[in-house]
Amino acid sequence: MDSFAKTADGAAIRPPLFTGRFRDELASSDHNSRVTMGPYREGVLMGRWSAFLLDEAELDEMPGVPLGEIAGHADAVLAGRPDARGLYRRWERQQWSAEEVELGPDGEEWAHRMPRVLRDRLTRVMHTFVVGEYTGLELLGPILASCPGEHDLLFLGTQVADESRHTAMMARIADEVLGKSGGLAAQLPTAWSDLPPAYRQISIVEAEIVKELSRNPGDHARWLRAVTVFHFVTEGLLALDGQRTLVQGLGRVSFLQGIKTGFTAMLRDEARHVGYGMHALRRGLADGYHDEMFDLLEEMLPLAVHIDFAATGGDREAPQRRDVPPRRNGGGAAGAEQTAERLRRLARRRLREIGFGSAAVDHLMDRCREVPASLTTAPPGGTTG
Ligand SMILES: [Fe+2]
Ligand SMILES: [Fe+2]
Repeated sequence: MDSFAKTADGAAIRPPLFTGRFRDELASSDHNSRVTMGPYREGVLMGRWSAFLLDEAELDEMPGVPLGEIAGHADAVLAGRPDARGLYRRWERQQWSAEEVELGPDGEEWAHRMPRVLRDRLTRVMHTFVVGEYTGLELLGPILASCPGEHDLLFLGTQVADESRHTAMMARIADEVLGKSGGLAAQLPTAWSDLPPAYRQISIVEAEIVKELSRNPGDHARWLRAVTVFHFVTEGLLALDGQRTLVQGLGRVSFLQGIKTGFTAMLRDEARHVGYGMHALRRGLADGYHDEMFDLLEEMLPLAVHIDFAATGGDREAPQRRDVPPRRNGGGAAGAEQTAERLRRLARRRLREIGFGSAAVDHLMDRCREVPASLTTAPPGGTTG
């Protein structure tokens, strides 16, 4: 996976972003075959080339990356089953600057061009990421400190750097686009108060599990529980699905290209983080830690799948308009169920990739059909925080 964008003599190739037609020609060529890259250089594709465009894109090229490419990126990365060392190398090649993302036009569009319904919808999505990136940065320290090996340590160091960059990106978006000044100290309480009940409950459990780990440093079972909730549930299901939905939605409209760029870069980072989590959990399962992971998933997956379920049974918003990027929940109870179905499919696939057996996967999926009681009894807006 890491070497597929190389020429025969090993030199890296970085063609411009391809059109759909040219892309199809490449995709139809044989695996590992020599292909003529249109007016560009001849190269050898050494793996699933669908990850190629986003893999190699610089920040200013990201708005031009095809939406299908972005949607499939994480799956393409995970298909290679990368280990911590390979992910570290990938990180070295995929640097970007949160300071360089141009947000000026987004601020103008947000204030003057956007319909109120869209602004409200996106505000809520942005708030989940303001909280999510900050808590990710804060909670990753104990996970890094208790990791089992040197390659884990090196990779998790890169993830700390990524989460720091993501937190800076979200603080800028909150300030320069949403108009919430005062830095994280002012942005976080506002964002937290806007989170859906399931997201709050997951955040609270996640923080407790990581605290438990920091009280028992080096405890491998507790470390795996922390990775299960952090890398599998929060990042692998919620963050990745949220980023993907947002970028695809913004791809259908001509504004908020700064936000789209920042989220595309974050999604690429997230694919590495989730790749690491899958690697660690696959190893944990093979080492006999099935029950520790399974018990926690039984509790967390039903919450994650019902992330858009509001205590009112889904809000009563108008149906989705074509010119409005969807939030994760396309609107109302029906939208929440669409999200749940998408997340159930994603969870099932990931559980199998880790190595859970059919009976365990079926049991967890059965649990995910019911809305957890904690969500049906919580008042709107939640009281869990
Ligand atoms: Fe992040
Ligand atoms: Fe992440």
